[in-house]
Amino acid sequence: MTAETETGVPGVQGTPGTPGEPAADQFNELPAHVWPRNAVRQEDGVVTVAGVPLPDLAEEYGTPLFVVDEDDFRARCRDMASAFGGPDRVHYASKAFLSKTVARWVDEEGLSLDIASGNELGVALAAGFPGGRITAHGNNKDADFLRACVRNNLGHVVLDSAQELELLDYIAAGEGRVQPVLIRVKPGIEAHTHEFIATSHEDQKFGFSLASGAAFDAARAAVNAENLELVGLHCHVGSQVFDAQGFSLAAERVLELYSRIHDELGVTLAELDLGGGYGIAYTAEEKPLNVAEVAHDLLTAVGKTAAELGIEAPTVLVEPGRAIAGPSAVTVYEVGTIKDVDVDDETTRRYISVDGGMSDNIRPALYGSEYDARVVSRFTEGATTNTRVVGSHCESGDILINEATYPSDIHTGDLLALAATGAYCYAMSSRYNAFARPAVVSVRAGAAKLMLRRETLDDILSLEV
Ligand SMILES: Cc1ncc(COP(=O)(O)O)c(C=O)c1O
Repeated sequence: MTAETETGVPGVQGTPGTPGEPAADQFNELPAHVWPRNAVRQEDGVVTVAGVPLPDLAEEYGTPLFVVDEDDFRARCRDMASAFGGPDRVHYASKAFLSKTVARWVDEEGLSLDIASGNELGVALAAGFPGGRITAHGNNKDADFLRACVRNNLGHVVLDSAQELELLDYIAAGEGRVQPVLIRVKPGIEAHTHEFIATSHEDQKFGFSLASGAAFDAARAAVNAENLELVGLHCHVGSQVFDAQGFSLAAERVLELYSRIHDELGVTLAELDLGGGYGIAYTAEEKPLNVAEVAHDLLTAVGKTAAELGIEAPTVLVEPGRAIAGPSAVTVYEVGTIKDVDVDDETTRRYISVDGGMSDNIRPALYGSEYDARVVSRFTEGATTNTRVVGSHCESGDILINEATYPSDIHTGDLLALAATGAYCYAMSSRYNAFARPAVVSVRAGAAKLMLRRETLDDILSLEV
């Protein structure tokens, strides 16, 4: 089962028709809620993003190629900011996709940033991102990472274990700084998402249990630690979540701990960080979560629960990654080998190979994720056929689109693009089979800028000692 279907949202691959039916018009139409906001198919059949034809980009930068619609990315930052009451309340989860350019966009839009490793912090700082607007995550932050957080005056460090709490207190003492911290709490909410990305049930590695009292004990230890300042609690119920009730329920449970901390420790916590997880549409059939509505309901629920508990409502912070970066980018591949394979006596399946695969998009192999793919170099036409889109790696599970009915005129040399690949694709990329990572370009107002250059064999060989 896929992450998407487990959310209760239909997870049927967004491809038109049944085999044998004419495909053309449906397949040529780009579902606007899945593709970048500035993606358009021109009259000659070529798809442009922000006015830049994808075939031109493929020619200049090669394939596979990530193309990011800058205005779309920025608009999604602003949408989140207005939904949650201010840009500083939204911490872009850089694990979805980070580069110096992205960090600068996020900074310019006034958002805060969530990082989850010393190197993500390094990239953000190299882009000039202010430490005070950065929150550090991780279940196994080592002393060097924690020291970097303290030295760069990070806005928040999210504590994930008792051991880390002691280590950070010790490091902060050595650096002569009082470090603001949040405590990551497991509120015991099922987010109805894939096991690998659900992070809030009890038997998993992140955070302190609310139910067992571990979260309260951690709060007491943080309040008593001389070099830490407890400013709030954090929870994250999962990723690609469509059942928004999970967010409110988690907030209500965590607020009970605010009340207990207030009553027993005499401390009023000012902030409540509810993590990320806002679901996006990967296929034509899916509907993205309406973030403005969710935010409204969530903020109302927090205000109401706080009033019932007789405590001050904390400021709500959120950490969306996918909902900002995901829909703003596409990956362009060139079609290579095409092979018709007999599935059984009656069925054949067409295997379309593209020049990337699990090294630039591990999500289908990891989570069974689905994508919307279209030929972007021309109009397609003709009857459909059972199709599977596969990568070029030595792995039979190297599948990008498992089951689809695509026009049978797709041929070698066509450019095929997958939409909504801006989050957790480049960020999770690998060099499997010594593949060099693709380039990433941003497009805006008819012009393209190289954001990350394509890796080369020399990059791979440069690690050899
Ligand atoms: C703590 C935390 N915050 C934010 C996010 C971002 O989630 P998403 O990209 O689904 O919004 C994640 C993702 O796993 C996370 O673990």
